[in-house]
Amino acid sequence: MNLIFLGPPGAGKGTQAKKITEKYGYPQISTGDILRQAVKDKTEMGLKAKSFMDQGKLVPDEVVIGIINDRLHDADCKKGFILDGFPRTVAQAEALGILLDKLGTKIHTVLDLAVEEDELVKRLTGRRTCKKCGMGYHILFTPPAKEGVCGKCGGELYQRDDDNEGTVKKRFQVYREQSEQLGGYYSKTGRYKKLDGTAGIDEVFGKIEEIIGAA
Ligand code: AP5
Ligand code: MG
Ligand code: ZN
Repeated sequence: MNLIFLGPPGAGKGTQAKKITEKYGYPQISTGDILRQAVKDKTEMGLKAKSFMDQGKLVPDEVVIGIINDRLHDADCKKGFILDGFPRTVAQAEALGILLDKLGTKIHTVLDLAVEEDELVKRLTGRRTCKKCGMGYHILFTPPAKEGVCGKCGGELYQRDDDNEGTVKKRFQVYREQSEQLGGYYSKTGRYKKLDGTAGIDEVFGKIEEIIGAA
C-alpha cells in the first residue's frame, strides 16, 4: 500500500502517518522530518534548506525530489510507504509519477486532510515533539503525563522553530498558493479522498482505515 497525505500545516499528516506505521508497518517518509534532521546535522543540504524553512517557504523542488528519489529506492519501501508532506507542488507530483513508473509501482490512495485555519493555528502553536523518538504531543489536546518529557521514551520535548504565529501564517499562504491545487491534480486519478480532519485523532484514524481497507 503506497499512500500520500496532503493537507495544510497542522492537519495531522504526521500524526496519522505514524499511526499507520505503528499498526501496519509501512515506513513514514516525511520530507519535513528529513530536512529538519539535515539542519540539525548541519549537512550541505541542511544549511541550504534552513533559511527556506525558517521563513515558512518551500525548499526548492530539486532538493526534495532528490530526497524522495533516494528514500524510495530503500529496501523497506518495497512493502509500501506513506508520503507525508511530499509532493507539495505540481512539479514534485510529476517527478514522483515518473519515479514510481521507473520503480514499477504506483500510489494507491491520496488522503487529503481538511481542517479550518483557526484550529490549525491552535494545533501548531501547541505542538511539541520528542527529540529522541519523534512522538508528537499537544500541550492542550494530548499533553504528556510529565511536562516536557516524552511518555513513550523519556526523551526531551521541543517546539519546532517554524511553529511561531508569524511563520505559521506564511506557511498557510504558501500552502494556498503552491500546494492546495494538488487536490485537483490527484482527484482526476480516482484514488483521491478528501476527509474531515477536525475530529479526534482516533476518529480520523478510523476513517482512514475504512478508506485504505476498501482501496
Ligand atoms: P513539514 O514538516 O511537512 O510541515 P507542514 O506541512 O507545515 O506540516 P506539519 O508537520 O506542521 O503538520 P502535520 O500535518 O504533520 O501535523 P501534525 O500531525 O504534526 O514541513 C516543514 C517545512 O519543510 C516546510 O515549510 C518547507 O520549508 C519544508 N518542506 C517539507 N516538505 C517539503 C516539500 N515537499 N517541498 C518543499 N519544501 C518542503 O499535527 C499538528 C499538531 O496537532 C500536533 O500537536 C498534534 O498532536 C495535533 N493534532 C493532530 N491531529 C489532531 C486531531 N485530530 N485533533 C487534535 N489535535 C491534533
Ligand atoms: Mg508533519
Ligand atoms: Zn520519545
